[in-house]
Amino acid sequence: MHPLALLPFLLLLIPTNARRVQHPNLPHTALMRTRAAEVRQTFEQAFEDYRLYAWGHDELAPLTMRGYDTRNGWGATIVDSMSTMLVMGLDELFLSTLPHLEATNFTSPPKPGTVSVFETIIRYVGGLVSAYELSGKKHQVLIDQAATLAHKLAHAWTEGREENAPRNMPYTWMNFVTNQPETGVVGLATAGTNILEFAKLSKYSGNATFFDLAKRSMDAVLRTTQFRPGLFGEAYSPLLEIVVNDKVSFGPNSDSFYEYLIKYAHMTGNADPVYMDTWLTGVNSAMENMLFKSTVGDWLWLSDWSNRTGYSYQFSHLACYLPGNWLLGARLAHNSTIYRTALSLAESCAHTYSSTPLGIGPESWHYVPVGVEYAAQPYQGSRAAEIYGERGYWTSDASYILRPEVVESMFYAWRITGNPIWQERVWAAFEAVRKHCKAPAGFASLITVETDSPVRKDESESFFYAELMKYFYLTFSDPSVIHLDKYTITTEAHPLLLETEQFDFGPEPAWVVTEVEGDQRVEEGRVDGCGGSGGTGMSQLMMLLDFYVPALERCSATS
Ligand SMILES: *[C@@H]1O[C@H](CO)[C@@H](O)[C@H](O)[C@H]1NC(C)=O
Ligand SMILES: *[C@@H]1O[C@H](CO)[C@@H](O)[C@H](O)[C@H]1NC(C)=O
Ligand SMILES: *[C@@H]1O[C@H](CO)[C@@H](O)[C@H](O)[C@H]1NC(C)=O
Ligand SMILES: *[C@@H]1O[C@H](CO)[C@@H](O)[C@H](O)[C@H]1NC(C)=O
Repeated sequence: MHPLALLPFLLLLIPTNARRVQHPNLPHTALMRTRAAEVRQTFEQAFEDYRLYAWGHDELAPLTMRGYDTRNGWGATIVDSMSTMLVMGLDELFLSTLPHLEATNFTSPPKPGTVSVFETIIRYVGGLVSAYELSGKKHQVLIDQAATLAHKLAHAWTEGREENAPRNMPYTWMNFVTNQPETGVVGLATAGTNILEFAKLSKYSGNATFFDLAKRSMDAVLRTTQFRPGLFGEAYSPLLEIVVNDKVSFGPNSDSFYEYLIKYAHMTGNADPVYMDTWLTGVNSAMENMLFKSTVGDWLWLSDWSNRTGYSYQFSHLACYLPGNWLLGARLAHNSTIYRTALSLAESCAHTYSSTPLGIGPESWHYVPVGVEYAAQPYQGSRAAEIYGERGYWTSDASYILRPEVVESMFYAWRITGNPIWQERVWAAFEAVRKHCKAPAGFASLITVETDSPVRKDESESFFYAELMKYFYLTFSDPSVIHLDKYTITTEAHPLLLETEQFDFGPEPAWVVTEVEGDQRVEEGRVDGCGGSGGTGMSQLMMLLDFYVPALERCSATS
């Protein structure tokens, strides 16, 4: 008997609505254990260097071996590293950071200057609430300190209002001495990247205001002009609640707004469908209007777009978070069109790593889109033209600042498809970073990836510890660690427990796997008699078949 013949019986044992996102049958091999241990050791050494040379400062300067501060001096690297320590099982190391936290006064920045609402929420508040959950909800200091920060940040919503009645959107910068924000415009990402962190903080602090502020801001954005359905401009006036810059982008200033629409829906089990609906609408618009293939190599890329100035035909390392986010949303929405497109985009992002001399991708790049008459071309005869001819993109900013997004999407691709090729790509990236970014102390940014001999920069962002090392680790860890059906992961890679594992994201899909010359692809289509609702019967069987085919090869392109 073919083993799959048993599946209908096994189905009876599997609860409806379980296992929406992560592939249920991921292995945990000896090789994975070895690699995870190497990543953990690398993280430990890097953090030890930080402790030795920069303790209490925001960042470690990896070449001059001293501390420096770009996040107001509260020890950003410590706070950003805590959830990574807990994920890696480094509980003692985590405990060793608590005295620093207890001694930190988050009401006044050690370094004079304004405080970034966005960076402070994603790095500090997110790091604190995630560490609180991951350490068993027993270190109250983590919530108290997060609340101290958030009470100060709340003033960014109330400037100039009588009796502090909040307006809906925050300003970008806060002065903690005067409790006044710097007035001006606010970016889409700042207005829309706080609902995960503030929802958790309200839950654990018992003060509903934080969540209320975050939700007001998200909802205010949803009421503004959409330049295409579900796509929003880059900057807003918090005073007037109108969009002031019509650039639509998935890169800097905008990215995590879209990211949080679907992650918030995931965390709450789609309690209010407006967020996921908006995400789906935006993805649909992006698929119709912002996706292009390069004239060389057929690589799929997204483009920024403005109603006034048109398309940029550029893509960026930051925007490479998107394939992973689309894979997550495609699983929740049961949409194989989004799923396949996301995998193609993940291939493209991975290609920016495998195609450079160092094996690490650049900050941003250009391409020439198929079927567009007057798109900019690289100068004929230039090095850029040569590179475009080889790769299907040419680099516009060659620096690498230890960003995680490409590895992040490869991590999602591994956990969702189970295709081990993604692990190999992540491992190649880890080895490249270890080889080229390792510095006298910790790890350093690179001035350019377009060279055979890397030139390092005396900078090391805290997201190296929070994000890059965590995604490296989770690609090789036991797949039950930060299982994607138990956690959502913030934009700074701080895991947060889902509020419910009972999802109601609509009927089960009817995806069919068909074999195409040894390569399995997902085909969309309904199977006769598989009424989707409730997720029972034939459609669920089809989904399981889809899942249980070994070493699923769903990549639509291989490089
Ligand atoms: C924290 O700093 C503020 C502002 O300088 C000060 O008023 C407060 O007393 C400090 N708190 C502690 C516990 O030192
Ligand atoms: C909740 O937090 C807000 C914002 O800082 C504050 O104004 C309010 O007094 C707090 N409420 C309680 C009950 O502590
Ligand atoms: C899947 O998403 C695509 C792109 O947004 C959309 O056109 C299509 O209708 C969706 N399919 C289903 C079954 O919802
Ligand atoms: C987009 O541009 C067109 C043409 O300039 C203009 O008529 C339209 O109002 C713009 N749309 C939005 C939403 O601003």
